[in-house]
Amino acid sequence: MIDPTRRRFLASTAALAAFAATGRGQQPESKPATAPPQPAQPPQPAAPKAAIPLEKRRFGATDMEVTVLGFGGAEIGYQQVDQAIVEKLLNSALDAGLNVIDTAECYAGSEEAIGKAVANRRKEYHLFTKVGHMEQGKAGWTAASIEKSIDRSLQRLKTDRIDLVQLHSCGKDILEAGECIEALEKARKAGKTRYIGYSGDSTTALYAIETGKFDALQTSVNICDQECLDLTLGKAKARNMGVIAKRPIANAVWRSETQPDNGYVVEYWKRLQKLDYDFAKGDTRNSQSPDGAAGTALRFTLAAPIHVAIVGTSNPARWRQNAELLKAGGALPKDRIDAIRARWKAVAEAGWTGQT
Ligand SMILES: NC(=O)c1ccc[n+]([C@@H]2O[C@H](COP(=O)([O-])OP(=O)(O)OC[C@H]3O[C@@H](n4cnc5c(N)ncnc54)[C@H](OP(=O)(O)O)[C@@H]3O)[C@@H](O)[C@H]2O)c1
Repeated sequence: MIDPTRRRFLASTAALAAFAATGRGQQPESKPATAPPQPAQPPQPAAPKAAIPLEKRRFGATDMEVTVLGFGGAEIGYQQVDQAIVEKLLNSALDAGLNVIDTAECYAGSEEAIGKAVANRRKEYHLFTKVGHMEQGKAGWTAASIEKSIDRSLQRLKTDRIDLVQLHSCGKDILEAGECIEALEKARKAGKTRYIGYSGDSTTALYAIETGKFDALQTSVNICDQECLDLTLGKAKARNMGVIAKRPIANAVWRSETQPDNGYVVEYWKRLQKLDYDFAKGDTRNSQSPDGAAGTALRFTLAAPIHVAIVGTSNPARWRQNAELLKAGGALPKDRIDAIRARWKAVAEAGWTGQT
């Protein structure tokens, strides 16, 4: 991280330069009769906000200590967020203490945006990406396309090594064939990625864990997606895998009173109507207090045996806001976790499997 002293130095240098440019630093032409007025102070740039102390967890058997709150890079890609906003968003998150950035080769420009925004601060974050869809919507489940994809990710992310490359939600048949796993192992051996993982859900995630080949699992864990709590997370923990919670805030579906148009979030929205959690309605629905819907949802996810929750956002203020929620709220009390679990067990239908 940039030394705060250096930041202050840069800020005061900039302020002095601005002051000189106004001409107010010149000597007055004639001696005033009274004490010389003090030159007006130019506006001072805002002092950088301090980092937020966040819990860190050892990421499985790897050497990475990850902050429990990471950054999910899908939104900035799919929503084609302006590069200036991405720069603000990622730099302010790094300043506040973020140390995990997750993206994928198919998140429509996300890798390039991240590379441009923060490659100059590469030592400050663990960088995770995914392979398998060389172009949006088109699968590329061959060793050759995975190798090509990793090389392309390295270029886009402006780095010489990725910390974790994950197979991006391929089916069990692809895992069984073995070619793609071998391609990841080859990339790991070549030093292009330090660790390898599987990103996906439900019984395919279970199969991926049981292959024993992966260092990490990325899977959906949230108040509307609890299958993993019984099916996979215990198994991943037993194998000492690093676990990333994707969709950790359930896409904040409580924000919408009517069924959203976005098909990606509809299933969670429908589940939430049936789950009918007290904290996701009424006064707490849109509250940004730790016991509001966002704070409760995030704290519920962090109570699971996971290491980092990668919240997606296109809002530069969001990462700090969520980190503050966690700091203020601390661990979600056991009785509240039990109530959310009990409600799920009472209401969940057979088809409520992990959503990719
Ligand atoms: N198959 C896969 O591998 C896969 C699939 C899905 C996701 N992922 C990964 O997981 C990441 C996260 O998933 P996601 O973005 O779909 O789900 P998410 O993190 O659960 O939800 C993101 C949404 O939550 C909102 N939000 C965040 N904090 C909030 C707060 N305090 N209050 C209200 N709303 C808040 C964001 O809105 P704002 O923009 O307004 O902040 C955004 O719309 C992705 O970026 C991606 O990296 C991977």
